[in-house]
Amino acid sequence: MALYARVIGWGGYLPEKVLTNDDLAKQIDTSDEWIFSRTGIRQRHIAAEGELTSDLAVKAAIAAMDRAKITADDVDMIILSTVTPDNTFPATAARVQAKLGIKGGAAFDIGAACAGFIYASSLANNYIKTGYAKTILVIGVETFSRIVDWEDRTTCVLFGDGAGAVIYQAHEDDSDTPRGILGYELHTDGRLYDILRTDGGPSETSSMGHLTMDGREVYRHAVTKLVEVSQSIMAAHNLAVTDLDWIIPHQANARIIAATGERLGLPEDRTVLTVTNHANTSAASIPLALMEMGHKIQPGETVLMEALGAGLVWGAMVLRW
Ligand code: UT7
Repeated sequence: MALYARVIGWGGYLPEKVLTNDDLAKQIDTSDEWIFSRTGIRQRHIAAEGELTSDLAVKAAIAAMDRAKITADDVDMIILSTVTPDNTFPATAARVQAKLGIKGGAAFDIGAACAGFIYASSLANNYIKTGYAKTILVIGVETFSRIVDWEDRTTCVLFGDGAGAVIYQAHEDDSDTPRGILGYELHTDGRLYDILRTDGGPSETSSMGHLTMDGREVYRHAVTKLVEVSQSIMAAHNLAVTDLDWIIPHQANARIIAATGERLGLPEDRTVLTVTNHANTSAASIPLALMEMGHKIQPGETVLMEALGAGLVWGAMVLRW
């Protein structure tokens, strides 16, 4: 009997406060025209004062658990992906576990920046396939508003806060078309550490620092690497572009999504675009896209997810819904 990690629930949460491009143009030297034409972004959500990464995560988790019709007792692991935790330690996942009233199992964080949801899902897949866990809550959550430099127009306009969650459950499936995660591919190139990072951290500076980025370099690597990894994972699973029902890319920039899609020949009407309203929510962007459009995906449909972020880290995952 083969075990598959099947998606049985998903949900998300965006903080109430919306910051539009026009709002930003009142604070810094920028414009809606510049931001939208370069990125496809019109607005972003910003966590309220005192609203923590764990608070966002809990709301997304409850939405996903409700959709999956499971309770706290059913969850035997939480894998939370963030690079903006409540505290340097303990893991935000531990706080989320307590807030959700989950009493057993393991809960831990992983940091893979914008590729975090794919990295976290790959772990969930492995724990399920080996039979170690049955029901896993994967959360991608960020409060980038706390680490951007609000005076740096080259970066602060790009990011937003939010959380998305998915429940994966073990299902035995020996059919020719099993439903669940079919596979993933992960990469890291640490030589590119400096092109997207914070300039602080507990070990290096003992302060939190701010996000810094060489946008052009990240852009260049994003398109090339996302095309490569998508081609590679499709080949590994004998999938042609026409076999893909949905493409859910990490939402950093509409131009990256368009350029990647064009090179791969991906259908635009099946490629999800949420960056316009969410901006770049890093690890939360793919599960937040699911919050918006997951109800449209039919059982048995094939989904490709891909993402790249600071590290650089990047990866792709294919699953049959
Ligand atoms: O999840 C992964 C995370 N990051 C990314 O995926 C980001 C990847 N990179 C990008 O999306 C793009 O490189 C950006 C959107 C960040 C920038 O677009 P660009 O077309 O590469 O612009 P640029 O950085 O080359 O800047 C062009 C001009 C510059 O002015 P000068 O030097 O030509 O006079 C900037 O100073 O635009 C200026 N500029 C702005 N102007 C108005 C930069 N930011 C702004 C701004 N408003 N917010």
